[in-house]
Amino acid sequence: MISRDTIEEIRNRLDIVDVISDFVSLKKAGQNYKALSPFANEKTPSFFVVPAKGIFKDFSSGKGGDAITFVMEHEKMSYSESLRYLAKKYGVEIKEDKQSDESKAALSEREGLYILMNFAKDYYHTQLLTSEEGMSIGLSYFRERGFNDRTIGKFELGYALNGWENFSEEAVAKGYNKELLEKTGLTVKKEEGTEKERSYDRFRGRVIFPVHNISGKVIAFGARMLGKEKNQPKYINSPETEIYHKSDVLYGLYQAKNAIRQQDVCYLVEGYTDVISLHQADVENVVSSSGTALTESQIKLIRRFTENITVLFDGDTAGIKAALRGIDMILKGGLNVRVVLFPDGEDPDSYSRKVGTTEFQKFLSDHTQDFVSFKAGLFASQSAGDPIKKAESIKEIVTSIAQIPDPVKRSVYIQETSSLLKIPEEVLLSELNKILIQERRKTQTDNSRDREVPPISDETIPEISEPVKIDAQGMVELQERETIRLLLNYAEKEVDENTLSDFFLRELDDVTLTNPVYRQIYEDFKNGVSKGEIPNSHYFIQHGSEEVKRTVTDLITMRYEPSKHWGDKFKIHFSKEDELVSELALTNVLRLKFRFVQKLMEDNLQKVKQAESSGTWEDLDEALLAQAGLKEAEQGLAKMLGIVIAR
Ligand code: UTP
Ligand code: MN
Repeated sequence: MISRDTIEEIRNRLDIVDVISDFVSLKKAGQNYKALSPFANEKTPSFFVVPAKGIFKDFSSGKGGDAITFVMEHEKMSYSESLRYLAKKYGVEIKEDKQSDESKAALSEREGLYILMNFAKDYYHTQLLTSEEGMSIGLSYFRERGFNDRTIGKFELGYALNGWENFSEEAVAKGYNKELLEKTGLTVKKEEGTEKERSYDRFRGRVIFPVHNISGKVIAFGARMLGKEKNQPKYINSPETEIYHKSDVLYGLYQAKNAIRQQDVCYLVEGYTDVISLHQADVENVVSSSGTALTESQIKLIRRFTENITVLFDGDTAGIKAALRGIDMILKGGLNVRVVLFPDGEDPDSYSRKVGTTEFQKFLSDHTQDFVSFKAGLFASQSAGDPIKKAESIKEIVTSIAQIPDPVKRSVYIQETSSLLKIPEEVLLSELNKILIQERRKTQTDNSRDREVPPISDETIPEISEPVKIDAQGMVELQERETIRLLLNYAEKEVDENTLSDFFLRELDDVTLTNPVYRQIYEDFKNGVSKGEIPNSHYFIQHGSEEVKRTVTDLITMRYEPSKHWGDKFKIHFSKEDELVSELALTNVLRLKFRFVQKLMEDNLQKVKQAESSGTWEDLDEALLAQAGLKEAEQGLAKMLGIVIAR
C-alpha cells in the first residue's frame, strides 16, 4: 500500500501536460492542448488536455480523468503501477503503509523473481551477441531464419550456452540465491534430499525467446532447440511461477499493444516465430497463444486494446480444428472474429518469408473473411449435394452465432447467413432460438450443480420463451440501425423520384424507433429536414451525445465491402452498394415494419395469455382481434419481401 502522503506528493509534483506528452504529441489551443485521440483512430483531433483543471478528455472514446487515470488507461497499468511510474518520473520516494510481514515477504519475493528474470534475459542476450558459441550457433540460426538486428533487439532474443551450469554459476556469483533460482525455474533440482541430489540449468544449447508481461517485464522464457535431435522437445518453456501463469499471457502483446490499438485489430497466430516474422513484414499488431488453446483470460487481455481479432492459421486439418474452437471462444467473449486461411503447408512465418512484405500484407487484406463466410465455405466443399451434411453445416454456423452475447449482432449474422446460404431467416432464427434455449438450460443446470441443489426439471425452468423475445427485439433494432446507416450515408440519393431522406420520412411517419440512440438520431434528422437542412454525419459527431457520436462513427465506417476472395473462389459477385441504394431503402422500410409487427405480435401474445388466465371476455376478444390484425399485416409485408413465414 502506497501511503497517502506519497500519493499527495506525486499529485503535487506532476504536470499533466508533461505526463501526457510522453505518449501523445500535444498542440497548444488557447489555454488548453489538443491532439489526435490515442484511444481511437481519427483524422480530426478530439483529445483535449485542460492543464488548469489537471484533466484530459477524449471525445472519441469517452475516456477522461486526471494524469493518473491517463497513465492507467494508456499503459493499461493498475492504480498502484501508475503511481509507481509517476513517482519514478518525478523522483518521489515511495513510502508504504505498514504491512503485515507476510504480505511484505510476498511482495519482495515477486520483486525478486522479476529482478532475476531480468538478469537472465540480459545474460542470454549478451551471450547471443558476444560469446563465440552464441554468435556462431545462436546468432547464425536467427540469421538463417531471416531475423534482423532490430528484431533481435526488439524481442530481446538470446542464447543459452551448451553446458550444465553456465547460467546458474554466473547468477550465484552475482549474488542471487539458489532458492530464488529454483523458484524461477531457471535452475532445476533433481533427486532432492538424496545422495544423488544435483542441480543444473534448465536451458542449455538453445536459442531463447523471452516472454514479457504487458508492462514489458520478462516473466518466462521459451527455448528452441537448434538441430533436429529426436527425443527432445522442440521448445522447453519456463514452468508456472508466481509471476507466470501461462494461460493469462500472450506472447508479443507488449511489443504489439500500440499497433493493436492503432489498427483496431489483433492478429492471432500460433507460435513465437510467427509473431516475429510478422513484425519483420511490418505487421506489428500480432500476438501468439503459444501453441495452446486460447483461454478466456487471454481474450479479455486483447479486449483491453481492441474488439477485433483476426485468427491466422495453417491450412491443414489440425490447424482448422483448432481455429474453429478458437472462433467460438472469441465470439463468446463478445469480440468480432475474422479469419485468414493460409495455403496448405504454409504458416504465417513461412509464408511471409516466402512472398515478402508487400505481397504478404496484400494477402492478409484479400483473404480476411468473417467467420460465417469462412465456415460456410469450409462446409460448402464437404456438403455439396448432400442435404444431411448441408443441414449439419447450417447448425454449425448457427451454433457459432449463438455464442455472441449481443442480440443485435446475432441478428446481423443471421441475416448475412440467410443471404449467403439462401436459407430463409425464419428457419435460421428458429434454429438459433433452439440453441439459445438449450444453452440457457445447460447453464442453469450447471449453476445449480455448483450450488449443490438437484438440477431443475424442464417444467420448472422459468421464461423459456425469453430468448425468442430477445431476438425479436434484436431484429427490430438491426433494421433501425440499417435505416440510420442509409440516412447517414445516402440521404440525398434518389429513391422513388425523390431523395432517400424524403422517402424515409414519409414511409416511417407512423413508426417510432425503439432503440433510444437510433431514435435520437432519427428525430434530430427529422428536425433538421423540417428546417430545410439535412444534417450529415459531421453534424452528429460535433453535436451528438457520446453514444450518438460512437454510433454515427460506427455506421459511417462500417465495412460493407465483401471480400474479393468471394468472387474469385465461389464466383459470387456483388454490386457496389451505392448502385443499390434505391432497392436497399425500399427493402429496409419493409423489413423495419415487418420486424416491428413481429415484435408487436410477441408483446400482444403476452396480453392474450394474460387475458386467458385472468382477464374478462372483452379483454380476450380485444387481444385476439389485435393479434389477427397483426398477423395479417405480417403476412402482407412478408409477401412483399418474398419471405415465407414458417408459422
Ligand atoms: P510450432 O511447432 O508451430 O513452433 O509450435 P514455431 O514457433 O512455429 O517454431 P518453428 O517455426 O518451427 O521454429 C507453436 C508454438 O507451440 C509451442 C511454442 O510456443 C511454439 O511457438 N510449443 C511447440 C511448445 O511450447 N513446445 C513444443 O515442443 C512445441
Ligand atoms: Mn513455425
